[in-house]
Amino acid sequence: MTPLVDPIVVLTGAGISRESGLSTFRDPDGIWAQVRIEDVATPEAFARDPARVHGFYNARRAQLRDPAVVPNAAHLALAELERRWPAEVLIVTQNVDDLHARAGSVRLLQMHGALGRARCLRCAAAMPWEEDLSTATPCPLCAEAGGLRPDIVWFGEMPMHMDAIETALGDCGLFLSIGTSGHVYPAAGFVAEVRGHARTVELNLEPSQGSALFDEAIHGPATAIVPAFVDRLLKAAGA
Ligand code: APR
Repeated sequence: MTPLVDPIVVLTGAGISRESGLSTFRDPDGIWAQVRIEDVATPEAFARDPARVHGFYNARRAQLRDPAVVPNAAHLALAELERRWPAEVLIVTQNVDDLHARAGSVRLLQMHGALGRARCLRCAAAMPWEEDLSTATPCPLCAEAGGLRPDIVWFGEMPMHMDAIETALGDCGLFLSIGTSGHVYPAAGFVAEVRGHARTVELNLEPSQGSALFDEAIHGPATAIVPAFVDRLLKAAGA
């Protein structure tokens, strides 16, 4: 495997956005320490109490409008890697924030959906959405009142873009996993899929569930270890 020209797949999780001020999920101060998945992040929760689910995502969507929440050095380093690497770089993120896109990453797949989008339960249209959603919000396309849900993949639902992701995993020569605990599948299984044909590197604050499966593990805050790793990679490639 010659890492200098191979395509790269970068998997990211909530840890890459932590230093931008967004909470992770499973850290002691994480989101799932404040609220139960069963109450806000399943189709059953939405059917049972849509107002509560809207409230949970409205608060998270509003955070993205906070001027203090901006892409950090790790997001920016990945956008630079995409610009300068001599082969393709694809970011597959579990995150529903908009920080990779705002950092300038273009080849980006959000496998768990996006806070900045809504989807109509009646006409299935997905649309950009910045404001609060409520059970009374009409779909702008089919006018169905209360028909809109966050365009987020809930537990028990199929992740998005899986065909494109599987193709990229099959083609890559380098797989990076950044800021994810390795708890949630299918993302947690990607490293096992690529180990036979790609070099695998974990960049995380601390060892994750899948650390032992990686060729290399670099631990520390993403804003320190990701830019350093990207610099090292680009220098080695003479890029
Ligand atoms: N730099 C790097 N890594 C960090 C940092 C940081 N500053 N802060 C925390 N981390 C690491 C944690 O050590 C942890 O391993 O980021 C990881 C975050 O793990 P989770 O909170 O489980 O988030 P994630 O892996 O993205 O969760 C996956 O689970 O709840 C669902 O849909 C949700 O997309 C999410 C999925």
